[in-house]
Amino acid sequence: MPKASPTKAERAAQLRALVEHHLYRYHVLDEPEVSDAEYDRLFDELKTLEDANPELATSDSPTRRVGAPPSPKFVKVAHLSEMGSLEKVNTDEGLLKWAEDVRKRLGTDEFVRYVTEPKIDGSAVALVYEDGVFARGATRGDGLRGEDVTANLRTIRAILPRMILAEDEPAPPVLEVRGEVYMPLVGFRRLNERFTREGKKAAPNPRNAAAGSLRQLNPGVTAERPLSIWVHGLGHHEGLSIEGHWDALGWLRGRGFRTNPHAERHDSIEAVAEICREWERRRIDLDYEIDGLVVKVDSFEQQDRLGALHGRPRWARAYKWAPMTAQTKLVRINIRVGRTGNLNPWAQLEPVEVGGVTVSTATLHNQEDINRKDIREGDTVIVQRAGDVIPQVVGPVLPHEARTKPFRMPRSCPLCGAEIVKPEGEAMHRCPNSKCESRGLETLIHWVGAAMDIEGVGEQLVRRLWREGIVASMPDLYRLTKERLMELDGYGEISASNAVDAIARSCERPFHRVLFGLNIPQVGWVTAQNLARHFGSIDRLAGASQEDIQEVDGIGPDRAEAIAEWFSDESNRTLVNELRSLGLRLEAGDEERARKGPLTGSTYVITGTLEGWSRDAAQAALEELGGKVSNSVSSKTTGVIAGENPGSKLAKAQRAGVPILSEQDLAALLGRG
Ligand code: IVH
Repeated sequence: MPKASPTKAERAAQLRALVEHHLYRYHVLDEPEVSDAEYDRLFDELKTLEDANPELATSDSPTRRVGAPPSPKFVKVAHLSEMGSLEKVNTDEGLLKWAEDVRKRLGTDEFVRYVTEPKIDGSAVALVYEDGVFARGATRGDGLRGEDVTANLRTIRAILPRMILAEDEPAPPVLEVRGEVYMPLVGFRRLNERFTREGKKAAPNPRNAAAGSLRQLNPGVTAERPLSIWVHGLGHHEGLSIEGHWDALGWLRGRGFRTNPHAERHDSIEAVAEICREWERRRIDLDYEIDGLVVKVDSFEQQDRLGALHGRPRWARAYKWAPMTAQTKLVRINIRVGRTGNLNPWAQLEPVEVGGVTVSTATLHNQEDINRKDIREGDTVIVQRAGDVIPQVVGPVLPHEARTKPFRMPRSCPLCGAEIVKPEGEAMHRCPNSKCESRGLETLIHWVGAAMDIEGVGEQLVRRLWREGIVASMPDLYRLTKERLMELDGYGEISASNAVDAIARSCERPFHRVLFGLNIPQVGWVTAQNLARHFGSIDRLAGASQEDIQEVDGIGPDRAEAIAEWFSDESNRTLVNELRSLGLRLEAGDEERARKGPLTGSTYVITGTLEGWSRDAAQAALEELGGKVSNSVSSKTTGVIAGENPGSKLAKAQRAGVPILSEQDLAALLGRG
């Protein structure tokens, strides 16, 4: 008998299971099995089926995550067991003192293992599963009673509506799971951008954003917020025999709960201290905010014996660092004229601690960015360090202080007074004066840093040398002596000679770095490499016409003109000659001449006369695609290109079994066949 097609109820159940399964793969495991389109198809089929047959819809259906109807207010619910809080420590000493106390209470000869895990800066929740089904969820509240936010929690895709159980595994009748709902940093930034655009108050940090999103009366709003969860422990539970926290995390993970991958188990408190220090550095690599590590005694039996004091377990501590966002006053918006003449606005802040570092300046990008965020001098602003080290101003804490006014870029250059321009379609305002004082200093900073990467010689030293009138150009840097440097405060014999040596060693840097360092308009890192490869030396480049320069990859007429113009300036030619006499490399080495392309890694030999090409043209064309051309045949030769009247190289290639290519083959290889 052919199998009967499933009833609507069966199909709905099947679809619910499928959608849940794929949500789990995607949001919990990060390993999707199907495309987004395939997932959408399943979801839409389920939604259509349930809409047409409301009696089939279940309260735990994944379609419910789009948001239940708004509720007038949250109902208070009692937690099944108290949701305590954590006692903090801020130092290694505090941590060791706690471990000592634990040992004393348990008996000094007892072995204690610890589990560490990130302390997520989010909003604590308790999730209750009845017979394996998510029944209720609440915020922490006062620890005994919280707010019922079940409808909102159902919108979070990383929360399973049903635990994953093995076929013969009985569902625990009641299970309370504890976790932290949080907002990933990317989502937080986007949300704040949106808030600012809409004239709403920006959330000061991801924790506030998560808590606020979770406490929306309309679950439809929560559904649009990028929330996720890390589950970090068991609350009340019945019918489980698990011996410790580490095993509990493993058990939860196996049942489909999203547990943090950075939890670790340690055999000593010294190892715990070390990992706490390590994560203070590593935390900026995470895409969510953590404000410390939680340290827990692993064994449940030991936990029970240690007990709690005023709702704070003696078996756990939060090792906390300083937060990564902070509020402070924006004193002034200053302008720095960059090496290319761009006006870079930056925020002068009242110093504030952000993530263990005192911050007094932050970047502001450009006028558009300032307008979009509506940042004004005198505002209280949110400063953030995340992912990268340069602090950012997230936005103002609205409303603006009284008497603040929107920021405007200056009309004239703060350094040379030239009239500021803003080219059509560009985001940056510019000082058009190529002799503007700022350019010299900024070029030097660029030279020692991004371009030549001179160890131990950074922006601060360059600024001092500039201020003291010791160094005003790149050649001055190479004439700097140890004795002269030692005249500066803080420079002794060793530090001065290290700096001078590092400067001297930079003469060995390849030609394209020198080109990049010269600060020729519109010559960035990639263009410098292309120019070095194409022309091979500064003299060939300096002698090239605008048309010649335009032949280089990615260089249009405007850029070619700017480059040619730079070389036609007498003072620039003098600069180049000075650098030459000081020993800097103004010719490309073999490495630089070779380029990456489809023929990278292959070596050709040309023999005989080619009809349609000069030898040089064929070589240039092969090199253009990344290939190399060599004079002699060896085991490394990829192919020999043989023209009319080939020499002995052809015979050698035949003996060595190296492929022989005709001129037609060459044309095909170069894509011109
Ligand atoms: S365990 C008795 N583990 O930090 C409390 N808490 O003050 C045991 N938190 O509200 C909590 N990450 O929500 C634990 N990995 C983690 C955590 C964590 C964040 C929160 C928790 C609690 C607060 C403690």
